[in-house]
Amino acid sequence: MAQQVRAVVARSKGAPVSLETIVVPDPGPGEALVKIEACGVCHTDLHYREGGISDDFPFLLGHEAAGTVEAVGEGVTDVAVGDFVVLNWRAVCGQCRACLRGRPWYCFDTHNAKQKMTLTDGTELSPALGIGAFAEKTLVAAGQCTKVDPAASAAAVGLLGCGVMAGIGAAINTGNVGRGDTVAVIGCGGVGDAAIVGSKLAGASKVIAVDIDDRKLATAEKLGATHTVNSRSADAVEAVRELTGGFGADVVIEAVGRPETYRQAFYARDLAGTVVLVGVPTPEMQLELPLLDVFGRGGALKSSWYGDCLPSRDFPMLVDLYLQGRLDLDAFVTETIALDEVEKAFERMHHGDVLRSVVVF
Ligand SMILES: NC(=O)c1ccc[n+]([C@@H]2O[C@H](COP(=O)([O-])OP(=O)(O)OC[C@H]3O[C@@H](n4cnc5c(N)ncnc54)[C@H](O)[C@@H]3O)[C@@H](O)[C@H]2O)c1
Ligand SMILES: [Zn+2]
Ligand SMILES: [Zn+2]
Repeated sequence: MAQQVRAVVARSKGAPVSLETIVVPDPGPGEALVKIEACGVCHTDLHYREGGISDDFPFLLGHEAAGTVEAVGEGVTDVAVGDFVVLNWRAVCGQCRACLRGRPWYCFDTHNAKQKMTLTDGTELSPALGIGAFAEKTLVAAGQCTKVDPAASAAAVGLLGCGVMAGIGAAINTGNVGRGDTVAVIGCGGVGDAAIVGSKLAGASKVIAVDIDDRKLATAEKLGATHTVNSRSADAVEAVRELTGGFGADVVIEAVGRPETYRQAFYARDLAGTVVLVGVPTPEMQLELPLLDVFGRGGALKSSWYGDCLPSRDFPMLVDLYLQGRLDLDAFVTETIALDEVEKAFERMHHGDVLRSVVVF
């Protein structure tokens, strides 16, 4: 029997989101129905609402979530009813050319639920990133559920479902930060701060936080940045070089998604160093660099999709570190809110007042 639940829907471009009753089908083959316990408010939800991702309105927003599996469809063996899970938006297929080459974190054919959730009049919803978790219950592909230790706080570990994993993974998976490396992180929102935490976990000797907002730099310092640079008042490249013996950092992580900050990242790294782009640019942005500098400075210029994470490998490991007190995910939860406060949370996010607002059910 399909169920009716309350959910946050973006009905049309730019319009405030509304609380609606939606219809969630019973899980079919390979699907799971998840009762949501917590879901973070991410910038990408706002991008959806503003029509910046696609025009497939109405959207069912929310995608940084944890909850309990309530029912599973035919053939589902990896998760069972009652499992505490973090949802992911890259359920790997195991069969595409990336998966077959042993690089499933690049999977080119990730899975989502096949059945559609709808409004009560039958209008099909497009779930954000194939999740849609600003809802009491949501329907996903079973592979989008990663079982983790139920002792963890849902509000904290749900954040691993997107921004925090993207940042930690940008450092440890894509940037391959290791013991003794110097790291600079440009843009210290939820993603950049997670990159700082990830670099610290990996044993970086220096972690330099760069932002244009002193409030963000203060939080970055609390989370483990060893140095901070306000790039409104100082030249980011010069400052990073000065702090690294005149050379630049071994790894520079760009977590803004703009050409000018990418350029800073490019020049703030040491020769043969690595640039990781985790910030997401918009279609009109262009980058111009002297090709001789691209060659002459060597190293690696990489992009990080979802922190090159493998949810089944990385989520349980990070939840264990959280439970051992070695990874402070609680620090990313600025406030917990009710389902009908998402619009207000967008406002606060837009003004840079929060790291994450998290809807708790
Ligand atoms: N690659 C992925 O898989 C992935 C996943 C999630 C989010 N993202 C992207 O990561 C980026 C950051 O996300 P977030 O949630 O942390 O956003 P956020 O808005 O919380 O943080 C952005 C930070 O950048 C700072 N900033 C803005 N302009 C700057 C400039 N010119 N120089 C230095 N700092 C500047 C802001 O002050 C803010 O602290 C976004 O582009 C988001 O879309 C990528
Ligand atoms: Zn695949
Ligand atoms: Zn997100």
